[in-house]
Amino acid sequence: MKNVLILGSGGREHALAWKLSQSSQLEKLYIAPGNAGTEQYGENINLNHSNFEEIAEFCLQKQIEIIVVGPEAPLVDGIHDYFTNHDKYKNICVIGPKKEGAILEGSKDFSKAFMKRHNIPTAKYISVTKDNIEEGINFLAKLKPPYVLKADGLAAGKGVLILENLTEAVSELKNMLNGKFGNASSTVVIEEFLKGEEVSVFVVTDGTFYKILPEAKDYKRIGEGDTGLNTGGMGAVSPVPFASREFMDKVENQIIIPTIKGLKKEGIDYTGFIFFGLINVKKDPYVIEYNCRMGDPETEVVMLRLKSDLLELFDGIASGTLSERDVKIDARSSATIMLVSEGYPEAYEKGKIITGLDNVTDSIVFHAGTTKDSENNIITNGGRVLAVSSYGKNIESALANSYKSIEKINFEGKTYRKDIGRDVV
Ligand code: AMP
Ligand code: GLY
Repeated sequence: MKNVLILGSGGREHALAWKLSQSSQLEKLYIAPGNAGTEQYGENINLNHSNFEEIAEFCLQKQIEIIVVGPEAPLVDGIHDYFTNHDKYKNICVIGPKKEGAILEGSKDFSKAFMKRHNIPTAKYISVTKDNIEEGINFLAKLKPPYVLKADGLAAGKGVLILENLTEAVSELKNMLNGKFGNASSTVVIEEFLKGEEVSVFVVTDGTFYKILPEAKDYKRIGEGDTGLNTGGMGAVSPVPFASREFMDKVENQIIIPTIKGLKKEGIDYTGFIFFGLINVKKDPYVIEYNCRMGDPETEVVMLRLKSDLLELFDGIASGTLSERDVKIDARSSATIMLVSEGYPEAYEKGKIITGLDNVTDSIVFHAGTTKDSENNIITNGGRVLAVSSYGKNIESALANSYKSIEKINFEGKTYRKDIGRDVV
């Protein structure tokens, strides 16, 4: 029996808590900080994500054996290294890579060079700093529009610009190098634009062996028909119809295996999730980005379809026996629709009372941005509020179940996309 701590507060963390709570090996679950939904499965606790000592001491005190890091920032900042480097904490298993592995997400310049070294298919690129800006402009001039500019470092999901004309691209390149995204854009990756459909593929790995989880497709734009501003994600479905057996074999052989082997060869000891953001270009997969964590809202559909015990997979990482563990996948489809606050992803209000959650019977509602007020009402507490997630015999029926459940839930300003999954049914 194990005590587990999850770091994070979103729908991803609620879905992980829901899944872990089904394990017969779970003793007690803590979520820091969690939300009004995660409380159903464990104890919410306030811990500062940048104070690793506070987190580690809490783990010792509560005899926590496994800590699951939801978001990327603590990993990129070295939370895993902190545990490993201190004798008294080093036996606590951190699900998530050390700094040297999290750099796959933390630096686009690193991840592009890594893919190049290991022949992993990705868009052609060049890395530019103030010192070789002319080279960058020449590279741009040789590309066809649209132009893709990426801040090297973490920029809260906003660091990618896709521009229609060259003049604009050159001017934004200069803005980025001059600090548009602070230090994160002191190096900029310029990339060839790839046209195709996107799919998110996830593995758990102990650094040698890996298990592939169900794939998912997410919907990033706020507006219907994939228009408007980028968000954290407005919905997701799994499986993804174009991710056929043949396509997934290519993903495994051309991308997953070379990535795991490449990490090992470079002496990067990687444990945890790898999230491959892929694009299907005429039936060939290319890597758009790596993330060192699970996706959100993808986790809300992936966990529904994972039949195996998640804690057993984590235990496989902790004990170096992942290869002996099984990943069983539910044959049903799953879908999630995000209910967001009016105005998101720009300014929005918080504190709206949410009603009707108890009336939902055909969906699992993962909380993303919720909390409780002094009278114990569940209230909105973020841009993304609830991920209404359902099973179905196919994607269409999973979506229909979520849309039906949404009608039962209310809060002032309730906003959602009505076309999630329409392109794949
Ligand atoms: P990222 O933050 O790297 O996931 O990029 C954000 C989004 O920009 C991706 O989800 C893609 O839709 C798009 N994108 C990034 N790189 C490319 C590329 N080379 N070609 C086409 N679209 C891209
Ligand atoms: N849904 C995309 C992400 O989590 O980055």
